[in-house]
Amino acid sequence: MDAPLLPTTTALPEETRALGQQFAAFFAPGDVVALSGELGSGKTCFVQGVVEGLGGKRDDVSSPTFTIAHEYDARIPVYHMDLYRLASLAEARAAGLMEYFERADGVCLVEWPERVAGLLPPGTDVLVFSHAAGGHRTISRGTL
Ligand SMILES: Nc1ncnc2c1ncn2[C@@H]1O[C@H](COP(=O)(O)OP(=O)(O)OP(=O)(O)O)[C@@H](O)[C@H]1O
Ligand SMILES: [Mg+2]
Repeated sequence: MDAPLLPTTTALPEETRALGQQFAAFFAPGDVVALSGELGSGKTCFVQGVVEGLGGKRDDVSSPTFTIAHEYDARIPVYHMDLYRLASLAEARAAGLMEYFERADGVCLVEWPERVAGLLPPGTDVLVFSHAAGGHRTISRGTL
């Protein structure tokens, strides 16, 4: 993935969404991107930006609660997973997570990827979100 320069800091949710929009231009069908980071650090906000950047509707994007994967229509379909509440790898497999990762048509964006670190495809890009001073958010590249 070749994309905006990181690390970067955003002061507002709009800026994190704008970053997601910029990244969207670099995502290709079949990509799996891990969005790591603390609660409330802006991962879902970033997903909204990606969906907008791909021509989808930002309002479709919610924090998946008890559904592991949400699918959003866009030029490239976006598969959004929030694994915060995932109890086990068995649950991940039962929910068809591997099938999503193997799909060649869309982009998988995975919140709380640490829950399934061993299941993610090799070469998964990792973006790390964190809280910074002044209520800002820092987004950097990382590893799981
Ligand atoms: N610079 C910023 N970037 C993103 N969100 C921000 C920023 N500043 C404030 N916020 C607020 O922080 C919250 C981020 O929420 P978001 O759901 O995107 O986090 P998350 O990382 O997905 O959390 P979770 O782990 O609970 O899913 C929102 O309420 C948003 O308005
Ligand atoms: Mg979230």
